[in-house]
Amino acid sequence: MSAGGWQPAEPAGRVGQAFDPPPPIRLAMLGCGTVGREVLRLLSEHADELAARIGAPLKLVGVAVRRPHRHPEIPAELLTTDAAGLVNRPDVDVVIEVVGGIDPVRGLLLDALKAGRGVVTANKALLAEDGASLAEAAEAAGADLYYEAAVAGAIPLLRPLRESLAGDKIVRIAGIVNGTTNYILSAMAGASGGAGTGYREALEQATLLGYAESDPSADVDGFDAQAKAAILASLAFHTRVVASDVYCEGITEVTSADIAAAEGLGCVVKLLAICERVGSAEVGESVSARVYPAMIPAGHPLASVDGAYNAVFVEAESAGQLMFYGQGAGGAPTASAVLGDLVAICRNRVAGGRGPRDHVHANLPVQPMGATPTRYHISLDVDDRAGVLATIAGVFARHGVSIATVRQDMSGGAGPADRPGARLVIVTHTAPDAALAATVAALAELDEVLGVDRVLRVENLGRPVSALGVA
Ligand code: HSE
Repeated sequence: MSAGGWQPAEPAGRVGQAFDPPPPIRLAMLGCGTVGREVLRLLSEHADELAARIGAPLKLVGVAVRRPHRHPEIPAELLTTDAAGLVNRPDVDVVIEVVGGIDPVRGLLLDALKAGRGVVTANKALLAEDGASLAEAAEAAGADLYYEAAVAGAIPLLRPLRESLAGDKIVRIAGIVNGTTNYILSAMAGASGGAGTGYREALEQATLLGYAESDPSADVDGFDAQAKAAILASLAFHTRVVASDVYCEGITEVTSADIAAAEGLGCVVKLLAICERVGSAEVGESVSARVYPAMIPAGHPLASVDGAYNAVFVEAESAGQLMFYGQGAGGAPTASAVLGDLVAICRNRVAGGRGPRDHVHANLPVQPMGATPTRYHISLDVDDRAGVLATIAGVFARHGVSIATVRQDMSGGAGPADRPGARLVIVTHTAPDAALAATVAALAELDEVLGVDRVLRVENLGRPVSALGVA
């Protein structure tokens, strides 16, 4: 890749015609990892086409990286370790941030926005923690802040939520927004044919393929999806939702047995990000935002999303159900979203305006997880003798939790030889999560219970699950 590819071609003057070529839009890039490299490739390979689409050429004036010697492909005169110096250069029009993490990036982007520069960022962690400061700085300076790449990689999702659905009322978003965990769960389920792999092997493969975050605990503990859920809920419900508002469980405790149990019920296990508008205008609305692995009906469109693909199911009052599907991770897909934002900001600059901003006027409260209605699939080992089932049913009844189905499986009983055991698998009807959790805690205390093996939530997503009883 040559330096020339990132610079505008000299505009050809037209003889006998007054012609002021548009000045180049000057770009600074922060970071140059998997996504940044692809952004540079696209800027270079499509320089003329991008200039034509924008109405002005793009000129890269600098790339801030921590270790310049690791980037022999970038002309040395563009490389700097002084990110603050680059962002504050008076000739920079747009800053592209693909570093990630909260600090020092927050200060750099605030500086850029306060100076009126456009910002394209893929930084979901920062947006989910302190999107408010960035949005306020952008608003005060009339600057553009775009972040399509922060959620679901290549999938155009944030712009449809912000713009195309601006006249509708979104009621629910349920999505698979983390490619690494979807890759792992798909591999464990043997989605590509053959027997399922183990958790570790699948994670290693996802890391090798470039899907995982630098610290994969961000993926497997659900934090990446948590940040994305906060961003989605904020946009969909015009409310500032931060990562800590989003209840979060990852996939580290999902076992092959869970996946087999799901299959037996006509379900698959997926890590879901769910954002819902709950309540009503009469009693007051609130927002529920949560991330956890759940059994979903195998017939739901989200169930067939395998590998590192992401898919987001949006339900709006008038539009009905919409599904967005595509590559949610990886350098080139994420760079596609970055470039889309870059073109949008640059077009706004050429037109002399700014793009639509986010609105948080609704300012709805966030529903605590304990009050959120869910369903549990509980497997527990119990004494196999008369009256045990009645005792267990009594615990559910005392907590106001209705049982949908019960199955007893003799092979699962884990009791010692003198204490015959049985495995019970209970699926509940919908109840507040706090009541379900209290039921499980009380079950674990019973003398008749040898152990609560696993608890997994069940999400019908509007579909009946025949094996589970009612929808
Ligand atoms: N690590 C993320 C994922 C990619 O696996 O989806 C970027 O968000």
